[in-house]
Formats: sequence, C-alpha cells, structure tokens
Amino acid sequence: MTNTKQIIINKNFKLPKTILSPMAGITDIVLRSIVRSYSSNTLLTTEMISAEALCNKPDVKISEVTQKDSPIFCQIVGHKVEKMAKAAKILESKCQGIDINMGCPVKKVTSGGDGSALMINTSLAYDIVQAVKESIKLPVSVKFRLGFTKEQENFIEFGKLMEKAGADFITLHGRYRSQMYSGASNWEKIGELVKNVSIPVFANGDILSYEDSQKCLEITNAYGVSIGRGVLYDVSLLSRIENNDKDVMTFQNKINVLKDYINKECDYRGEKVAIKFMRKFYPFFINNLKNASKYRLALMTEETLNGVNKILDDILSHYLLEV
Ligand SMILES: Cc1cc2nc3c(=O)[nH]c(=O)nc-3n(C[C@H](O)[C@H](O)[C@H](O)COP(=O)(O)O)c2cc1C
Repeated sequence: MTNTKQIIINKNFKLPKTILSPMAGITDIVLRSIVRSYSSNTLLTTEMISAEALCNKPDVKISEVTQKDSPIFCQIVGHKVEKMAKAAKILESKCQGIDINMGCPVKKVTSGGDGSALMINTSLAYDIVQAVKESIKLPVSVKFRLGFTKEQENFIEFGKLMEKAGADFITLHGRYRSQMYSGASNWEKIGELVKNVSIPVFANGDILSYEDSQKCLEITNAYGVSIGRGVLYDVSLLSRIENNDKDVMTFQNKINVLKDYINKECDYRGEKVAIKFMRKFYPFFINNLKNASKYRLALMTEETLNGVNKILDDILSHYLLEV
C-alpha cells in the first residue's frame, strides 16, 4: 500500500485505504462477512440500494447491515433529490457513510435517470450530493465513471463538482458508461482526476492482484483502491494489499473458503435459492484449475448442497494428486 497515512474525513472518520466495491447480487451480508474476516479495516460497501424502494419499505432485505460489517458504507441509487436524502437518513444509523451510485451502466438503471445517467445531468447530480450531505452527519462519497460516452468525457469537471457539492471522497471507475465492462480501466485518467481535486480519490477497475494494486497506485497516485471482481478471485486480496502481503491464497484454501461461503448462503437464503445463487461465483474460485470447464459445468447443474460439496471434494482430491 502507499506510505501515506489514513486521513480523517468528516471530522472523525478514519478513511481506510481499501474498499470492497459495491456489486449488485454479490456484496451481500455473507460475502461481506467473509471479506471482513480477513480484514478488520477495509471499507465494505453494500449492493446498490434503490432510494425509491427504501423509502417505500425502510427494512428492505438488501439494506440489511450488521455491527460486524463496520466500517461500511451503504450505496444508494436513484435520481429524486428528496428520496435520495430520505434514503440516506433511513440508513444513517446502520452504517458509517453513504456512497452515491453515479456509475452504474445498466440500461434498466440509466433509462430512469439513475446511475451513470447522472453524469449527463450534472446539476441534478450536484443537488443530490448536496441534499444527501445535508440530511445526514455521516461522510458521503460518490462513485462514477469517465463519462457517459467517450465523446461526453467529463470526469474531471464532474469530480470537481462532486467535491463542491460536499462529497468527502470519490471513486472513479476508469471506463465510460458506453464501454459497460469491455476494454480496460484507464488508470492514467484516474491519475488526472487525482491531480484536479482536493478530496481523496479511490482508483477502481481491473485491479485483480496485489501487483495490480501497486501498479495502479503508482500510475494514479490515488489515495486508495476500490476492488470488486478481484476480491472474488481472492477474498483476502484487500487485506493483503493493506499488509503488503504478496502471497496469493492457495487453491486448497480457496476451495475451503468457497465451501464455507456456500454453507453460509444456504443458511441465509435457504438451500434451493442459495445453490442457484452461488453459480455465478464458481468461475472466480476455480479459474486456475485444469479441466475447469468440466467441473464448472458439473457445479452449474448441481441442485443440492451435498452434491456441490462432493464436486468440490473431488476437485480438491484431483488437484492434490496433481501438485
Ligand atoms: C456483477 C456486478 C455488479 C455491480 N454492481 C454495482 C453496484 O451495485 N454499484 C456500483 O457502483 N457498481 C457496481 N458494479 C461495478 C463495480 O463496483 C466496479 O466498479 C467494477 O466491477 C469495476 O471494478 P473491478 O474491476 O474491481 O470489478 C458492479 C459490477 C459487477 C461486475
């Protein structure tokens, strides 16, 4: 990690250097508890929570947060100023800060004016941040992209505007909305933002290893890193970055973490739902395995916890024979 110390924002919040990026359908209470078990310091984030839904149902399941998550920011998504401010107020007692989603590229979200669509409605984006900041005592952050399209690139003006509106820090994903997840995150551009604002910037996008984090920090000179998918390849990555630990998790360990993860999701969601829910995670956990596609297919079609555990045991015993 960088040599610079953690700073205090919003009077009393010691800002960590690493963030678990918000990921819808992924950074649920279970994954967060696993990431937390490796790092007591990293800043966790919830999945995006619709301000509109929360205002209608203040205890909506997706907003479930526990003491063990702390420090955690709840991420809200929406475009109605009063609803965003009200949602932040509803969440205030559960978390240490509010992150505002201005980066989500998904059509379902942007077509309603939410997520990255706010990058082309900058005065509304400003009003939202200002209103959220005024409604709560907690720190407020904003996560956004380089622009809606390459032609509409505005991340520097946008970052400055977010700072002026009261954001305590910002996270930049170095892609345009139009790229969705294709191409590469442009770390050089993140570095340009760092030079142009006075609040901390977290670099985001394509940081998959400890080495990537160091390279990204070198290029961007960012305050810290926000990591999504990389954490699925190695749930200890954020902790390793904080501790300058280059040793990747062993495959055996990864499988044991996966088993624990599945068990916990079964407790949380019920076996039938959890087994289907977990299917999206297997490619991340068994990516380095020989014959991964054969095992992936078996895991993707298995319907029971017992069956999944048997496949994972089989994977482990074959793997151990090979090393
Ligand atoms: C499945 C998935 C769900 C995501 N959901 C959210 C979200 O709810 N809010 C958000 O701001 N970004 C969301 N993102 C974007 C990530 O936070 C992050 O910006 C992006 O994945 C790039 O970082 P990474 O390369 O470290 O994964 C999501 C990404 C993925 C892959």
